[in-house]
Amino acid sequence: MNSPYGGALVDLLVDDARAAELKAIAKDTVSLTLDERGLCDLELLAVGGFSPLRSFLGKADYERVVGEMRLSDGTLWPLPVTLPVTPGDGIAEGKPVALRDVYGNLLAFLHVEEIFAFDKEAEARGAYGSIDAKHPAVAYLNRQPGHYASGRLEVLRTPPHYDFVELRRTPQQLREYFASLGWAKVVAFQTRNPLHRAHEELTKRAAAQIGGGLLIHPVVGVTKPGDVDHFTRVRCYRALVDNYYEPGSVVLSLLPLAMRMAGPREVLLHAIIRRNHGCSHFIVGRDHAGPGNDNTGKPFYPPYAAQESMAQLQDELGMEMVDFKQMVYLPDEDRYCPVDEVPAGARTADISGTQVRDNYLAKGLQLPEWFSRPAVAEILNETSPPKFRQGLTIWFTGLSGSGKSTVAQALVERLAEFGRNVSFLDGDEIRTHLSKGLGFSKEDRDENINRVGYVAGLVAQHGGTTLCSVISPYRVPRDNARKYSKGNFVEVFCDTPIDVCEQRDVKGLYAKARAGQIKGFTGVDDPYEPPLNPEVTLDTSKQSVQECVDQIIDKLIALGYILPHGHIVEFGESQSTTIRGPDHSAE
Ligand code: ADX
Repeated sequence: MNSPYGGALVDLLVDDARAAELKAIAKDTVSLTLDERGLCDLELLAVGGFSPLRSFLGKADYERVVGEMRLSDGTLWPLPVTLPVTPGDGIAEGKPVALRDVYGNLLAFLHVEEIFAFDKEAEARGAYGSIDAKHPAVAYLNRQPGHYASGRLEVLRTPPHYDFVELRRTPQQLREYFASLGWAKVVAFQTRNPLHRAHEELTKRAAAQIGGGLLIHPVVGVTKPGDVDHFTRVRCYRALVDNYYEPGSVVLSLLPLAMRMAGPREVLLHAIIRRNHGCSHFIVGRDHAGPGNDNTGKPFYPPYAAQESMAQLQDELGMEMVDFKQMVYLPDEDRYCPVDEVPAGARTADISGTQVRDNYLAKGLQLPEWFSRPAVAEILNETSPPKFRQGLTIWFTGLSGSGKSTVAQALVERLAEFGRNVSFLDGDEIRTHLSKGLGFSKEDRDENINRVGYVAGLVAQHGGTTLCSVISPYRVPRDNARKYSKGNFVEVFCDTPIDVCEQRDVKGLYAKARAGQIKGFTGVDDPYEPPLNPEVTLDTSKQSVQECVDQIIDKLIALGYILPHGHIVEFGESQSTTIRGPDHSAE
């Protein structure tokens, strides 16, 4: 096989002596902090996953890759692997740059030989076939400075990982492992999603078809925004591999790749990487590495575009494709089969990714066994809890005396009735510890609210509920608090008229403010910016405490944060499964 891939692996890791020399000069060398893609690319360059590439692409290689999918020497290379830089940041031709991660770890030295400007639109059109920023690779490109740097690369260490360390095998390690298993033929399965029964079936069929071993090789670097996080996915893969495959028939290893979601071009990169990892065959199904739909709602690439491009180039890649049409379930026969092999007259069933999310996980329901193995389904339920099991910040804002704390305290009790136990952050109390020492200038008020929002956000992100009752007169810090809670945030505006607040004057503060004894009192001589879109607006001059609490509870039920009393999950499978008749139209 005279393919340029799968032979001797590029190894850019320097020995200890050279590493010591580089460390010694690092402090006098300009540094560049790599982003997530840069870290992934560096790691695959370093260990030979990208062989025969030895560094980030230079201008001649880059331009030919974008235009023709070839390096300047003619080697097939489908996608740019580049290092974006801003010239003038001390990075210059003829000088080294130290590549680091965000923690400052020194990873590599790039001896910059070339810095070149590039045309973002030409790269977008050429490499990804679109300039639509809905394409993740185009969106990424748009955020970059306008130059790339290249040169000789020396790597001191690959980016450190502390998770699933035993599952992260380099190309060399996997080759040796396959050899130790006596596997001459290995089919690789690429994935960025949790694996369900359809994938299990497809991978088992592929291994049987080639008469060899199976490598499940999920991407744990950068995938499509919104994907299930890799920690959850790897737990699912493990549960599946350990329990539902023949022992000794499958290897699970993790790939630190930054996907570009570039379908027909990306599939070639995937195949090259797997060839370098010692595989002979590669599974390509429907919509491989697909970026989803463009801004007109149309898919960026046809569903089998990746299969077509792989079919054309598999000889040159030295990797054989195992192609599959979409796998569907036959409920009447309780088995899976590719959509083009469905027996005449048979009904098929499927659950789409959106249905998984909205009809099962969001409702706290377990996926049916025909779709997902129970061990996998349980992990997904646990890591994607429904709204009523997610954290929440309830934020009361309004003038002093508007009824915030009274209603909030009543709400704490009502919420416990629904199983939501709450931590209460009251404005006055906060100023005695969390914000001790802060005054009432705009700056200090903003800082105070920022602290409350930050703490509530931390709690919300880990499943807790915080009720904050603070005047919070300014809109921006309130909106920031919403961001800290990642949107699990309900703003309750106590819109009680100021004259009512002033009549109540529970703490006697309005009187003092009017008498000029207190300066900068909200509503008197300091501004209050009402929320623009609060989830709940109350007027405690017209509503009783009970009515206010009921209104908030109704809203929380409507938003899914609490379940109504006596709620019974009634859920037929047909609501969440698309069953198609023999003509493939939905029944
Ligand atoms: S990808 O971006 O890594 O391609 P995903 O993890 O969803 O996304 O898919 C991994 C591989 O499985 C791809 O080759 C894809 O085409 C294939 N695949 C996923 N789902 C199915 C299915 N239901 N039927 C056939 N092939 C599938």
